[in-house]
Amino acid sequence: MTADPAPAPHHHDTVRALQWQEDRLRVLDQRRLPAVFAYDDCADSSSVARAIATMRVRGAPAIGIAAAYGVVLAARARYRQDPGGWRQAIEEDLRELAASRPTAVNLFWALDRMKAAIATAEGDPYPGLLALAHAIHRDDVEANRRMGSLGAELLRGSRGVLTHCNTGSLATGGYGTALGVIRTAWTQGLERVYAGETRPWLQGSRLTVWELEQDGIPATLIADSAAAWLMRSGQVQWVIVGADRIAANGDTANKIGTYSLAVNARQHGVRFMVAAPTSTIDWNTAKGADIEIEERAAAELLNDYFLGDGHLIGAWNPVFDVTPAELIDAIVTERGVVLNPAVTGLAALGGH
Ligand code: MRU
Repeated sequence: MTADPAPAPHHHDTVRALQWQEDRLRVLDQRRLPAVFAYDDCADSSSVARAIATMRVRGAPAIGIAAAYGVVLAARARYRQDPGGWRQAIEEDLRELAASRPTAVNLFWALDRMKAAIATAEGDPYPGLLALAHAIHRDDVEANRRMGSLGAELLRGSRGVLTHCNTGSLATGGYGTALGVIRTAWTQGLERVYAGETRPWLQGSRLTVWELEQDGIPATLIADSAAAWLMRSGQVQWVIVGADRIAANGDTANKIGTYSLAVNARQHGVRFMVAAPTSTIDWNTAKGADIEIEERAAAELLNDYFLGDGHLIGAWNPVFDVTPAELIDAIVTERGVVLNPAVTGLAALGGH
């Protein structure tokens, strides 16, 4: 079984970050975009874990899908080495994959699904685990298309939207979460898409506007610090973002800067939407304060001058923040839409 069964790219959705081919995972190197479009081959689970940790693959759903394929590669290698002891040996690979990044809960969700399949596998685990990884990949694209329709309904009559980070095909199995909503809304008459740069890693300016251009959707880039002024100008009616982890009370961890956008949106009467599959909801985490926020190297912020020895300048680089549920107007999932989550709660989405 070598074919990649994830729904094929199509018009207005042409980019694919992850491809299963010739019994290995091909990962589009997102550190090099947009200057260089190149895939790396991951033939073992350690290289998948490295690709996640170094952000060649990024975005919560894409991280989960890549990890699922990582488990497939680990199981194949461990079973070949020792058909009797592979289930014990693979524990080390599962730990390495789980340690690759801390905040996106889709990683742990996907690993839990793969672990359940490992527990019941009989004989060679490879075909069964590969079928499950393909299903996780395929279901993600289907969830995104469904969220696209549901979210675009809420946008009817809106002229402009602002998004943050990259939540598109690059960040998912395909189509995207927040960017999927924008993709669908654009085919239904949305006029303007603004994207914030997303410092310091520049997911907005290196990835989102590039991805939209590939799909023929015009976008306007702004500095992150221009967001309040854009809202004040009346050109955007909604801010639309994805999520790395949604706590059971609706508090939402997403790319650093999201919280500022939500505060500013409330101040300016702009509505605020989170689009995320239910695999991003962490039912075991009660509230946002309990979510682990990844901090990355100071070097991502400091310019070359300050990187040498002898400087007094440090940097604090949290790469996610938490937006409280009361600042969110709508959470859009593939199972349905929750309006005013702080008031209504998420129970309507059905739990685990
Ligand atoms: O650090 P990243 O680039 O992995 O962060 C990505 C985000 O914050 C996205 O908004 C989130 O994962 C949702 S992607 C559909």
